Amino acid sequence: MLIGTTALTGLLGEWRVGGHAHADLAAKLEVLLLDGRVASGTRLPAEREMAKALGVSRTTIVSAYRVLREKGILRSIQGSGSVLELPSVPRRRDPAPLDLDLSKAVPRAWHELPDLSARALQRLPHHLNHAGIDFFGLPDLRAAIARRYTERGAPTSPENILVTLGAQHAIALVARTLLGRGDRVVVESPSYPHALDAFLAAGARLIASPLDSRAEASLENGASTYDTDQLVDTLRGARPALAYLMPDFQNPTGASLDDDERLRILRAAAQTGTPLLIDETTADLDIDRPFVATPFAAVPHHGATVITVGSLSKTVWSGLRIGWIRADRHLIERLALARPAGDMGNAVIEQLVAQEAIGDLPRILESRRDELRHGRDHATALLRSLVPEWHVPAIDGGLALWVHLGAPLSSALVQAGRARGVTVTAGSRFGIDGAFERRVRIPITADQATLTEGLTRLADAWTAVRSAGHAGRSLSDPAFVA
Ligand SMILES: Cc1ncc(COP(=O)(O)O)c(C=O)c1O
Repeated sequence: MLIGTTALTGLLGEWRVGGHAHADLAAKLEVLLLDGRVASGTRLPAEREMAKALGVSRTTIVSAYRVLREKGILRSIQGSGSVLELPSVPRRRDPAPLDLDLSKAVPRAWHELPDLSARALQRLPHHLNHAGIDFFGLPDLRAAIARRYTERGAPTSPENILVTLGAQHAIALVARTLLGRGDRVVVESPSYPHALDAFLAAGARLIASPLDSRAEASLENGASTYDTDQLVDTLRGARPALAYLMPDFQNPTGASLDDDERLRILRAAAQTGTPLLIDETTADLDIDRPFVATPFAAVPHHGATVITVGSLSKTVWSGLRIGWIRADRHLIERLALARPAGDMGNAVIEQLVAQEAIGDLPRILESRRDELRHGRDHATALLRSLVPEWHVPAIDGGLALWVHLGAPLSSALVQAGRARGVTVTAGSRFGIDGAFERRVRIPITADQATLTEGLTRLADAWTAVRSAGHAGRSLSDPAFVA
């Protein structure tokens, strides 16, 4: 498939990072391919067309394409252009360091999962007389999830719950059921990339509401904050078909909405008739305060439609693939009707395990809080000492640090990190149109040894990026203030 120059220049964003133009361009194209933002097999625009779109000489494009060809990720076919392709065999590095994956902000499986599973298996025989296909989820699990909402101040009945294959499935199901081609969806910027993928796959147009415009402009604020004024204005101005928000410990920034902000957003959503898709996948990950998060659904709705998504991925185990949707029962029925087009429901055994885990959730959350506190404190202290020029935010919950590099070098850093056997996700993966080249997301979920080794290699990668002539731009660069 061919990618147009408009789409590609959008994805490239700020690709010039102060090195040779052709090298900067090649590096950014490689990161787009490796991150999956440009699919393997995509045909790039012709050199002349690309040069015009980017405002550079044709020689720059020819040289950038040559670099990619030499790396084995661009294939040029006489008369049919140049195709970006992932290498079919993993490229070996020499010497090959142990690969450390800091690209996923997920905790390890809850250590008592084998016991929970054994308990769940004992209940399996009671379910074997049924077909085992059910688009809503096991009644007992729906009841357990509903009970937890009710206990935390949001009265919920089992009919309000649909069990899904994780939160991502829940988001995608809502997107393809509620959205039509060209519908506007307001999203926080930055946001969770796979949710954005799901809205785009449903044909929606994304409207970014900057989460943190003040903090981006001045790094005095430790943690990220919501720019609720912007969000409310965007809802009123765009009257979108959906707004997707992560009100507690937003991924990637860790920001949370306060009570007053929740109310203002609900009022604006009610006025504009915009359903709110509230992703609470990370809501239980409070690090500093030992209390149970209040669900967004517990705030008076003022007539707004609130659809909540939850998951056990960040508390129990991502490998369980259990999430859910909480919504008005008519919408739950509509979603269940739409479901078989994509999947035939959750596995019974995993739902039984999930039910056991929900019974143990208070204890699991307490333990997760300790783990995340250690991870955060260790990663924060280490990064501040290894790379003092980076701004490492102070977060009070969530899974990751949204680190500010002080220069638009995130893609170059990711590439240099990969060469040293450590994988992190470039800031631009969380933005629309190549935004956030000055940010990198560092998960705090890895164990101490992995964090130490991974972050040390990343600091080394940073030194290499800097000394390779990527001058970057300073924090007072007008582009930054804008
Ligand atoms: C905010 C957010 N939503 C959804 C998901 C997807 O979660 P699940 O594994 O439950 O599909 C994630 C996982 O990273 C996430 O961080």
